[in-house]
Amino acid sequence: MTKGVAILISGGGSNMVKLVESMQGDHPARPVLVLSNQADAGGIRKAAEMGVPTAIVDHRPFKGDRSAFEAELIRVIDATAPDIVCLAGFMRILTETFTGHYAGRMLNIHPSLLPKYRGLHTHARAIEAGDTEAGCTVHEVTAELDDGPILGQARVPILPEDTPDALAARVLTQEHRLYPQALRRFAAGDRTRLDLAP
Ligand code: GRF
Repeated sequence: MTKGVAILISGGGSNMVKLVESMQGDHPARPVLVLSNQADAGGIRKAAEMGVPTAIVDHRPFKGDRSAFEAELIRVIDATAPDIVCLAGFMRILTETFTGHYAGRMLNIHPSLLPKYRGLHTHARAIEAGDTEAGCTVHEVTAELDDGPILGQARVPILPEDTPDALAARVLTQEHRLYPQALRRFAAGDRTRLDLAP
């Protein structure tokens, strides 16, 4: 039985594009929705061009009322009856009500080697700390921010001359390899950890 995947974005959606492009042929899943909380997110236009249904749930009219915002998110997402929800650059912090509703079937990609550097500015923090490597992580989403069982990681070197932007670009290239592979395994019922070779 082919699984339906809803993808949540806030920006350009480069990870979303790689996920959608990967769900073809004998892949066990298909995209059923791309949703953004930002109406002007570049990823929404890209998703529409790839023929994926899209939706906007703008958080601003809810004026900080998280539960009302999330209730609308859930209403719009569940209208497409997804089996799996992928967060791909979705920049809203979600409460336990939302993470609990999709418990065990929601994934996220984070641009660090979790559990190091939860939250924002991961590349600047890794450089400041003098780390020699960085990377990205796909994990199941739980109520704790950037926590939950790790499904996959990919590593990159940090070079002496690296700026946060240069490092972010190198990590993003690995995100585009890791997330599609992790989703494919997860959709096939494989929750074992994947460590991508460089
Ligand atoms: C990615 O680096 C992702 O790890 C982070 O937000 C960025 C989104 O990029 N959470 P894009 O919108 O997928 O290009």
